[in-house]
Amino acid sequence: MTFDPIDKQKNLFPTSSGNNESLLILLNRTSEIICKWFSDAEKLGPIPIDINFECSVPGEYGKSADDLFSEIESLIYSSFNPVHPGSLAHLDPPPLIISILGDLIAAGLNNNLLAHELSPSISLLEESICKWFSKKLGFSNLAGGVAASGGTLSNLNALVAARNHAGLETDPKAVYLISEDAHSSFVKCTRIMGLDRNNLIKVKTDNNGCMDMIELKKTIDKCFKEAKRIFAIVATVGTTIRGAIDPIENISRICNEKNIWLHIDGSIGGIFSITNIPINGINNLNLANSITINPQKILGITKTSSILIVSNIEFLINTFSTGLPYVSTENDVINRGELGIQGSRPAEIIKLWLGLRFLGMRGIENVLNSSIERRKFFENNLNLEKYDLLSGPLHIISFLPKGMNINETDSWTLNKRISLMKKNFMISRPLFKNRYYLRAVLGNYNTSESNINDLLKLLN
Ligand SMILES: Cc1ncc(COP(=O)(O)O)c(C=O)c1O
Repeated sequence: MTFDPIDKQKNLFPTSSGNNESLLILLNRTSEIICKWFSDAEKLGPIPIDINFECSVPGEYGKSADDLFSEIESLIYSSFNPVHPGSLAHLDPPPLIISILGDLIAAGLNNNLLAHELSPSISLLEESICKWFSKKLGFSNLAGGVAASGGTLSNLNALVAARNHAGLETDPKAVYLISEDAHSSFVKCTRIMGLDRNNLIKVKTDNNGCMDMIELKKTIDKCFKEAKRIFAIVATVGTTIRGAIDPIENISRICNEKNIWLHIDGSIGGIFSITNIPINGINNLNLANSITINPQKILGITKTSSILIVSNIEFLINTFSTGLPYVSTENDVINRGELGIQGSRPAEIIKLWLGLRFLGMRGIENVLNSSIERRKFFENNLNLEKYDLLSGPLHIISFLPKGMNINETDSWTLNKRISLMKKNFMISRPLFKNRYYLRAVLGNYNTSESNINDLLKLLN
């Protein structure tokens, strides 16, 4: 057994004694490859036609960096490229350049948001950014939040806290309500919480894809009659298929009357509420007990970036705190791995912080507004004699040719998606209420009016 390096020529870790020259060389080389890949997007398209990547597994001895670089390049050149202007399929916009740095810094620091002593400045940063969001949303000083790796996890953190707050942790009669257009990940949340599909109750939506208030009242009455115990109602601000916004004030009124936790899944639209952009229905989000904001989906903060804000931080402490007995903790310090389901956590907050600082409120509004403008342009110029639309006030639009039966739309959407892909336009084909649609998500800052015109020519 020896403590000596296995290969003296190769630095395995950054060193505290040298100048880390070899790491610098690797970082520069990587930056060059990634930047070249960005520039090549135009000719390569949103996803490569031939995936040349072959996954090689570790051998007995390590490889040289040079060997690895050819593999890294092949991995990169076989990837989906969100920077391409025709990349319009999902909620995966191009990465904001400063947040790429944020990821690099987080990796270099390798701090851990589990405990204050493992991330002193970043714990403070996360707390401050969550407080900033809380204030912008209009919550009181008691509010706070926690970051999590994605919208699903932020929603799950909220639901677990809501159930705990209602004292229904082990009650099989505990149920929660979502609209029928809410995100599919609530099915997963339900399973993780040890519940089954009878505990997840879907409320019908109206013609605009918003939770229907009459249906909500009926559903609640039915739950009470059946002695079910509602621990939360989830309102969606920005549904996945059409960007619809549930009526927050009306739902909140009902929640208040019945003493039910209101959670807002603002994964898509929540970020708008910190700006002055006027969007119908995106106001008074502070009526909620908790809200998920997921800036990876539209602002371009690199994945993953999601935060949950709660109206009172005690909700999270009461639900998730274990005491973390193996960590030394000063009295007034919160270990942020004790505020949610994740224990060890990367410093994802750095890229969000840098992104927000880099853009400023003007830049944030510009990025968000441009998405809405692109959707309006697309919508206004799509041939409405030919298509039926599903859309809302945000940047998502789903559509189908008029008058086709289900079989016809199945094959039309399939073939159209393939033919658009050949022209370097990647849009999605979601299954919604048993029918396939085509969906454009217009959150790509690189997509110009002329790109959209080219897409429209292929559709109209
Ligand atoms: C409305 C909504 N909520 C939640 C999610 C899940 O987010 P994530 O994929 O970051 O876990 C999505 C994903 O698209 C979504 O559209």
